[in-house]
Amino acid sequence: MADFYLSPLRGITDKIFRTAYERRFGRFDYMVAPFVPTILGSRVKNHHIKDLLLDDNIGSINTNNINNDARLIPQIIGRDTNGFLLLSRKFADMGFKSVNWNLGCPAPLVAKKTRGCGLLPHKDLIKQFLDEAIPKLPLPLSIKARLGYETPNDLEALIPLFNDYPIKELMIHPRIGTQLYDGSVDLDRFETCLNLSKHTVVYNGDIVSVSTFKQLTERFPSINKWMIGRGIVRNPFLLMELREAVSINLSVSTKQSQIIAFLDDLLDACKDHPYPIKVLGRMKEIWRYLGAGIDGWEDLSKKVILCQSLSDYKTIIT
Ligand SMILES: Cc1cc2nc3c(=O)[nH]c(=O)nc-3n(C[C@H](O)[C@H](O)[C@H](O)COP(=O)(O)O)c2cc1C
Repeated sequence: MADFYLSPLRGITDKIFRTAYERRFGRFDYMVAPFVPTILGSRVKNHHIKDLLLDDNIGSINTNNINNDARLIPQIIGRDTNGFLLLSRKFADMGFKSVNWNLGCPAPLVAKKTRGCGLLPHKDLIKQFLDEAIPKLPLPLSIKARLGYETPNDLEALIPLFNDYPIKELMIHPRIGTQLYDGSVDLDRFETCLNLSKHTVVYNGDIVSVSTFKQLTERFPSINKWMIGRGIVRNPFLLMELREAVSINLSVSTKQSQIIAFLDDLLDACKDHPYPIKVLGRMKEIWRYLGAGIDGWEDLSKKVILCQSLSDYKTIIT
């Protein structure tokens, strides 16, 4: 049986999304939370790790079930060993079972500071980090990486190094950083990395339908761990479809009303948010994906993206 991972999408797959999603569409085997930056200083404050804290109800959603769960994997970005260890100790105290290191974020402001995928060309810095951190880490470490920063060779060159350390899993998104999300995934390079790695590899990238998934499973029969991000936001039924290997046979209107119920859960959970404009921004972001993924929603998505207030949004949706 394949394991499905929810990919971290900062600004989208926070605890409200994760909880509301599972309530309406089913359980992931694992979920990687969006990244937390390493912390300078000696204390982790709650606002640093807000998305990973247990809460009472947020609106009608109780996030405790899901946050208090070994399926959720916190992710850290940065290469400051002390900051990484500080956060990891906190995560261990909170009951998490592993921690993930982000070597994939392509945002220029991040990558230029030698963080995220910007670290990939620096084997020496990565080795130094692993040498210092791994003996002291209280939790198993997994790594989520791209093929490289500016060239697709970085990860290939790093895998023999990774092979020397006890790394729980290596999640690979087969693009390079400067590509951002453009162009296509490079499955040949992915295959090279897969063959080089002695660690468990999780595939991540552009799984948007049963047919793309089928092509990947046929090409990479040794993989049974799959991570999906944008495909889930485009079509929230995708997880069910992949588990059953068929498109879910519901009418378009039934699908649409289930998705609207999910979006209403998200809105309800944000009803006391101090900045409604941020809540609107979040809904627009989700609708950008839904407009591309759900039949008949292209125009509605355009209207949502143009709307100016949450009350306009509600009028458009109802
Ligand atoms: C809006 C957005 C936010 C993202 N945030 C993160 C993040 O916090 N950590 C991370 O490792 N990857 C992040 N990613 C990358 C995704 O986790 C994933 O690797 C990428 O979208 C490819 O997978 P997909 O094609 O299934 O979406 C982000 C991607 C997007 C589009």
